[in-house]
Amino acid sequence: MADLSVKIGGLQMKNPVMTASGTFGYGEEYADFIDISQIGGIIVKGTTLAHREGNPYPRMAETPSGMLNCVGLQNKGVDYFIQNIYPRIKDIQTNMIVNVSGACVDDYVATAEKINELPNIPAIELNISCPNVKQGGMAFGTTCAGAESVVSAVRKVYKKTLIVKLSPNVTNIAEIALSAEAAGADSVSLINTLMGMAIDAERMKPVLSTVTGGLSGPCVKPVALRMVWQVAKAVKIPVVGLGGIMNATDAIEFFLAGASAIQIGTANFIDPAVTLKVVAGINEYLDRHGFSSVKEIVGALKV
Ligand SMILES: Cc1cc2nc3c(=O)[nH]c(=O)nc-3n(C[C@H](O)[C@H](O)[C@H](O)COP(=O)(O)O)c2cc1C
Repeated sequence: MADLSVKIGGLQMKNPVMTASGTFGYGEEYADFIDISQIGGIIVKGTTLAHREGNPYPRMAETPSGMLNCVGLQNKGVDYFIQNIYPRIKDIQTNMIVNVSGACVDDYVATAEKINELPNIPAIELNISCPNVKQGGMAFGTTCAGAESVVSAVRKVYKKTLIVKLSPNVTNIAEIALSAEAAGADSVSLINTLMGMAIDAERMKPVLSTVTGGLSGPCVKPVALRMVWQVAKAVKIPVVGLGGIMNATDAIEFFLAGASAIQIGTANFIDPAVTLKVVAGINEYLDRHGFSSVKEIVGALKV
């Protein structure tokens, strides 16, 4: 058995596999299917300062090799999370990470400050890349100045591991990653969904209520791999890779491109046990190739 443990900032992980925000609820929803404590980390649904209803339905559409969504950060707000959800999930024996979003810098800061007080949340993932909200969200992740402003403000109040989730809807993702690193991020995760749309030709209407939405699943993997590779070459902090990972081979491709850990999103909707199958498959690959640790294959791509 190879050593699967990795460290992301101050976050010690038993293995490099996490669940992606918005695709695994608060973890408990999957506890009937698998032992969720065996996952390296669970990133819970996007949390905002105030309650959000999300966007009107329909907000999902299947596409060839993927899906579009425009959920729009539906959640009951950080105070509800602290009072009602945190007590239920705080003793799950893995890293429970909160994904934080906001409409303005002050929202992000206030939410992060509250989560900083929760002893059993060792990290936050700052979502500066949501394409499905009118204000804030992706706006911060598409310019260096925007990323710098929100990350540096949150860094001042948030004392634990700060992961910043980047948007692929940019021309040069490496320069946004460098801005996040300079502003104090401990790690960057990428990619969030790619902006797309679907049309119902018979009705001559868009499929999604918001017309455009975020594309995820196997169709985005080549874009995600390319961006992880570019970012990993540019920054010194660890990179968390995601986008279209369906199995252990996909995960290994991300490690080779330079990711120190990975997340799995859309695949959870198809197979609730996919995370643990990926952990087993990574181990099998490392054994077969004679590696004693997953760290040995991070960035090991022979170009
Ligand atoms: C239904 C759905 C909801 C999502 N909600 C969030 C969210 O709240 N916060 C966030 O940062 N990303 C959210 N995402 C993006 C995923 O975390 C992930 O970045 C993206 O889906 C790419 O990974 P995948 O191809 O493995 O799904 C959501 C994705 C889907 C499909």
